[in-house]
Amino acid sequence: MRKVRLAVFGYGNRAKKYLTYLESHPGEIELAGIVDIDKGRLEEARQKYPSCGQIFYSSSDDFFSSADNVDAVIIGTPDDTHYGLCMKALEHGCHVLLEKPAAQTMSQCRDIMAESARQKAHVILCYVLRYHPLYACLKEILASAKYGDIVSINHIVNVGIDRTCHTFVRGPWGDSMTTNPMIVSKCCHDLDLIVWLTGQKAKRVSSFGSLKWFRAENAQQGSAGRCIDCGIENRCPFSAPDLYLRRKEWTGNFIVPQGSTLEEVLEKEMREGRYGRCVYHCDNDVVDHQVLSMVMDNDIVVTLSMDCFTMKDSRITDIKCVFGEITVQDNMIRARDFNTGEESVWDFSSVAGLPLHAGADLKIVEEFIGKVRASKETERTDKAAASGAPEISNSMESHRICFMAEESRLSGMTVSDI
Ligand SMILES: NC(=O)c1ccc[n+]([C@@H]2O[C@H](COP(=O)([O-])OP(=O)(O)OC[C@H]3O[C@@H](n4cnc5c(N)ncnc54)[C@H](O)[C@@H]3O)[C@@H](O)[C@H]2O)c1
Repeated sequence: MRKVRLAVFGYGNRAKKYLTYLESHPGEIELAGIVDIDKGRLEEARQKYPSCGQIFYSSSDDFFSSADNVDAVIIGTPDDTHYGLCMKALEHGCHVLLEKPAAQTMSQCRDIMAESARQKAHVILCYVLRYHPLYACLKEILASAKYGDIVSINHIVNVGIDRTCHTFVRGPWGDSMTTNPMIVSKCCHDLDLIVWLTGQKAKRVSSFGSLKWFRAENAQQGSAGRCIDCGIENRCPFSAPDLYLRRKEWTGNFIVPQGSTLEEVLEKEMREGRYGRCVYHCDNDVVDHQVLSMVMDNDIVVTLSMDCFTMKDSRITDIKCVFGEITVQDNMIRARDFNTGEESVWDFSSVAGLPLHAGADLKIVEEFIGKVRASKETERTDKAAASGAPEISNSMESHRICFMAEESRLSGMTVSDI
């Protein structure tokens, strides 16, 4: 069978991870294009894939006007480009592995679902947690029915101070217009988990939250526009030099040009870049805390708390069932059976920290490529039998909930559809 001709839009952090699949499965995929608007990233791709010929493009238009017979694309570009690129890829008959969030409004999400069905093309959203061994195990435990029906779920997303400052205050995800409301960009994964674990849609959603702290009026006395000019930087828990220069956290995504060093890039960033700004003097408008409560179609009730002011960077899930309770925390699942009092423990601490979301990033590519190959096979033998792709509507429920939550947060009303 002919290899899957695959293109990648956005040669960044995420796409490079998905592309490592090629190394272990060279017989399945032929690279048909790498598209990135950043010259440095494109050059990096050229050096990584020197024998691939003229497959490097600086725009998706150039790519689509020259590349032939493309079966599938991976979209790993920033959030505000997902919708346009996904629609374009679908119109060109491609299957799509699409980074989350799929789009910036529910109406755009519906367009993607409709176009995917019209083209009979798969669109798989990169909900990698579904492929993570810990959550795959949790899904099996719930499916076994040992603990009975789920009654309620309490889920905490500890975003953490460092991630909040890097991503949602100084970084591009602080701007809800060019990315999304934070509940969408950060918690669509979590709400997808809840939809996937319960198999239910949301009936009603309420949400509260605001941008309480990272605003100009809270700037501390002695602070300055940039941390390097700040008189109280060494006492500030949100200091950029402390995060990047002293603790060396969150430095992996800075591009280091040839002939330069990471230290030089970071020094320059502290003086001129967005990541050297004081957290009270950024252009952020997304919330710094939000809670959501909802009731699902079968009356399961769910709460979710998105917490930025914590040093923890983790998820905690508490599931109450009629015959037992299950807690997921610190890479462990603990379940207590009400009938016997027995506690069962599943320990994932040895795998949870492994790269590529403990292999989940590659599993999702494997599933995607498998579906594309199966679809090509079906088309070859019986074109009319090529099936549509229901998986996208299933994953879009999380987006519907996130957009309903944002509507509720802004309006103060409980929302039952959007
Ligand atoms: N599934 C997950 O667990 C997960 C985790 C982190 C980020 N993400 C999502 O992945 C996406 C990419 O994030 P990232 O961290 O890889 O970003 P990144 O900045 O590392 O990479 C994005 C790349 O896209 C390029 N680009 C921008 N606009 C483009 C366009 N119109 N056409 C082609 N290339 C373009 C940029 O130059 C950059 O190289 C984001 O939407 C983010 O929300 C998902």
